[in-house]
Amino acid sequence: MINSPKKRVEVCFAPTQYELYRADYKICVVIDVLRATSAICTAVNNSTKILPVSTVEEARAYQKKGYLAAAERNGEIVEGFDIGNSPFAFMDPDLRQKTVVLTTTNGTKAINMAKDMDTVVIGALNNLDALCAWLIEQHEDTLLLGSGWKDKFNLEDTICAGAIADQLIKSGRFKAEEDSTIAAKYISRSARDNIFGYLKASSHRRRLKKLNLNEDILYCLTPNNLDCIPILKDGVIEKLTPEHVSQKA
Ligand code: MLT
Repeated sequence: MINSPKKRVEVCFAPTQYELYRADYKICVVIDVLRATSAICTAVNNSTKILPVSTVEEARAYQKKGYLAAAERNGEIVEGFDIGNSPFAFMDPDLRQKTVVLTTTNGTKAINMAKDMDTVVIGALNNLDALCAWLIEQHEDTLLLGSGWKDKFNLEDTICAGAIADQLIKSGRFKAEEDSTIAAKYISRSARDNIFGYLKASSHRRRLKKLNLNEDILYCLTPNNLDCIPILKDGVIEKLTPEHVSQKA
């Protein structure tokens, strides 16, 4: 085990580059720090399952069938839905043991894009250390997919992906070959002592600040306040349990 060959961990900056990376990996970690994957980690920690859909139309169709549904576009709650993408909305005890259909501008699209991978898990700063410990234990080729903003690179997902890559490489069980991974690692190292300050001028932080969502930003940029790992299983995201791992084996 100690001498087993190193697995790869690489960072894909944005969904537009996914096709260039996807073939080689067993695990995909989808990351949308502001705010979709932080909200999903929070929901799953609250024993809520999430059914991610890419479009508002799909969310509406589920809503008509009686599902609870949440929808966000451009940072705002979409008309006709009670919940958007704020992690605080997913702390509601009334959502426990329920399944919520969720569509967001970038995050749920990236999750659906990755669903042909053997295993898709959800990453955020909130569950950083728990996720890294699990990925190190799995020891599989792992792709870290940033959701970006409307298919472009974004800083917060890159910081999170770089922090994950850094921990995996430091474990001695992973290696990285892509420049995107090296860049993400160094960006995350230069941000880690003050992520909030580092992101001050970033596009989505500015966007959310304009919408008075500073509390959400602070929450999403808090590392390790949760230790759950959300996993996609039959189209629904739920909390990873030992059974998921034994089913795979
Ligand atoms: C997204 O999926 O693009 C986001 O999470 C946007 C947001 O609500 O902050």
